Amino acid sequence: MNKVRIAVLGLGRLGYIHAKKLASNNDVQLICVVDALEERAEKVARELNAAKWSIDPSDVFDDPDIDAVIIATPTGTHAELIKSAARSGKHIFVEKPVTRTLEEADEVIRVIQEYRVYCMVGFMRRFDPAFADAKKRIESGEIGKPLLFKGITRDNPIGKYSISAPVEFIKHSGGIFLDLAIHDYDMARFLIGSEVTSVAAKGGVLLHPFIEEYQDADQASTYLQFASGAAGDIESSRNSPYGFDLRCEIIGTEGAIQIGAFRNHDLTILTSKGNQDIIPIFPDRLLDFYALEMAHFIKCLKNNERPSCTEIDGKAALEIAISATESFRTGREVKLKS
Ligand SMILES: NC(=O)c1ccc[n+]([C@@H]2O[C@H](COP(=O)([O-])OP(=O)(O)OC[C@H]3O[C@@H](n4cnc5c(N)ncnc54)[C@H](O)[C@@H]3O)[C@@H](O)[C@H]2O)c1
Repeated sequence: MNKVRIAVLGLGRLGYIHAKKLASNNDVQLICVVDALEERAEKVARELNAAKWSIDPSDVFDDPDIDAVIIATPTGTHAELIKSAARSGKHIFVEKPVTRTLEEADEVIRVIQEYRVYCMVGFMRRFDPAFADAKKRIESGEIGKPLLFKGITRDNPIGKYSISAPVEFIKHSGGIFLDLAIHDYDMARFLIGSEVTSVAAKGGVLLHPFIEEYQDADQASTYLQFASGAAGDIESSRNSPYGFDLRCEIIGTEGAIQIGAFRNHDLTILTSKGNQDIIPIFPDRLLDFYALEMAHFIKCLKNNERPSCTEIDGKAALEIAISATESFRTGREVKLKS
């Protein structure tokens, strides 16, 4: 494949980041941008020099000049768009979570395999050099047998650094386990190198009372049990007053790996006054991760190779997230089926 001819579906927070990066990639021709909002599609097409724009994704599926689609529309639309893309022979990059339900995930896996297209799911942390290096070091045995994955993701999308209306954001997010903790579930599977067998989750509403109406939480903890005997301990928060905070630690029998802002003999005061070297919102921390994952997707398509983070990984993390939501709502530990 010479240049990969791409269409981007959904031009909100993530779709715009991906479209902008792809527009400046020499291996890519950004053919079409699509958004349900006409004004948005037209504006982004003009800004990024995309040859076409549309408000209807089926224009892309009918277009023989497009090799692959980037799906960055709201999660509830993923399943139908993935199936249509696969049936029209387009390769797929889809934002997390792959779908809303396990039934949808099984159906898209079936269609992707039937139509023999590649699908990559946007777990961008895997492509960050620090996480990728941690994976290599764990595989080479540097910290012995992995015993514990500890993950922290603290965000503030409905408070000080809110991007969209809080109620609208929570209503369409799928909940804290599907929307936020899922990145740590994927990272835990990736770094521990084993599948999760059971999940116990707790959560609460500490700061935003309106969230209760959606049976959701703004602060949660998930405990994971892996087939290898290892465990995972994940904190997920929407209440960070100081910015976006992403940290992770893997403890093994011979040592530990820490990723993030851990310091030795250091006291860190974190406040909302904004006078520290703190990352304010998530794209500031993650822009490089997004660029690296997209570079991997394009490289795979050019070389006719399967991406390293597929629909199967998408379903595995989704199953953990759905089990965590069930555990949070019922107060019981949930055993995974697959
Ligand atoms: N990887 C990450 O770090 C990360 C971060 C945020 C969001 N996401 C994921 O990205 C996806 C999009 O989230 P977002 O925050 O960018 O949403 P958003 O609401 O900012 O943008 C979604 C865009 O899609 C458009 N749209 C809606 N339905 C459409 C359709 N059928 N066809 C074409 N366009 C349509 C909307 O008009 C909007 O512009 C979600 O699945 C979300 O979980 C991933």
